[in-house]
Amino acid sequence: MLNGTQTWSRTGAIVLIVFACMISAKIMITKVDYVSNADYLTMKVQVHNETEGSTVDVDGNLYMDVSQGVFVNIDLDSKMDGQYMTMIGTSKELCSTDDVGMDPVVPLLNEELEKFGNLTFNCPFQKGYYRIRRFRMSDDHMLVKMVPPGQYIVKMDLQHQQPNATDKNPVFKLSFYFEIS
Ligand SMILES: *[C@@H]1O[C@H](CO)[C@@H](O)[C@H](O)[C@H]1NC(C)=O
Ligand SMILES: *[C@@H]1O[C@H](CO)[C@@H](O)[C@H](O)[C@H]1NC(C)=O
Ligand SMILES: *[C@@H]1O[C@H](CO)[C@@H](O)[C@H](O)[C@H]1NC(C)=O
Repeated sequence: MLNGTQTWSRTGAIVLIVFACMISAKIMITKVDYVSNADYLTMKVQVHNETEGSTVDVDGNLYMDVSQGVFVNIDLDSKMDGQYMTMIGTSKELCSTDDVGMDPVVPLLNEELEKFGNLTFNCPFQKGYYRIRRFRMSDDHMLVKMVPPGQYIVKMDLQHQQPNATDKNPVFKLSFYFEIS
């Protein structure tokens, strides 16, 4: 038997599928902002405009091994009436195995990132050099098809909590401003 919530999410899924069929998405990145904590890493992000959409290069140097206490927040903000508002967000402890399967966004992103290099959100993180070349989200990827044309920001915020520490250290913040047409 379906309860109200299940009926509602099924309706939502159908609406999304209908939307997805109408869209042939093209993603153009208009701006990238990032800061990184030099105690942990240095990072360089470059965007290329190509005819099929933007692609991204990332070079990162991680200065220490990290195998616990890594938290990531990923938000999608959408521009409505001239203002960005958070539509969906996800938070995850990357090294914890407790909530495997709860959140599909990080595993789906990892699967895409792995196609373009060796920088992913897979814990543990070993010190060393990492890179991504010409990363792009495919137009027919589920995560892209869920999003109608418009202006957006994807924000990633990674933090680290040392063993027994009460505070989290910022590691990096990365914002991609983009348009889907
Ligand atoms: C890429 O194209 C977008 C939209 O046309 C533009 O705003 C942006 O400045 C371009 N970026 C680069 C790196 O050329
Ligand atoms: C990641 O890939 C780059 C380029 O192929 C390579 O130089 C680097 O050693 C790799 N990093 C790790 C930690 O395996
Ligand atoms: C963290 O706390 C545990 C349990 O209280 C203790 O055994 C351990 O030595 C502490 N580790 C550090 C790095 O302080």
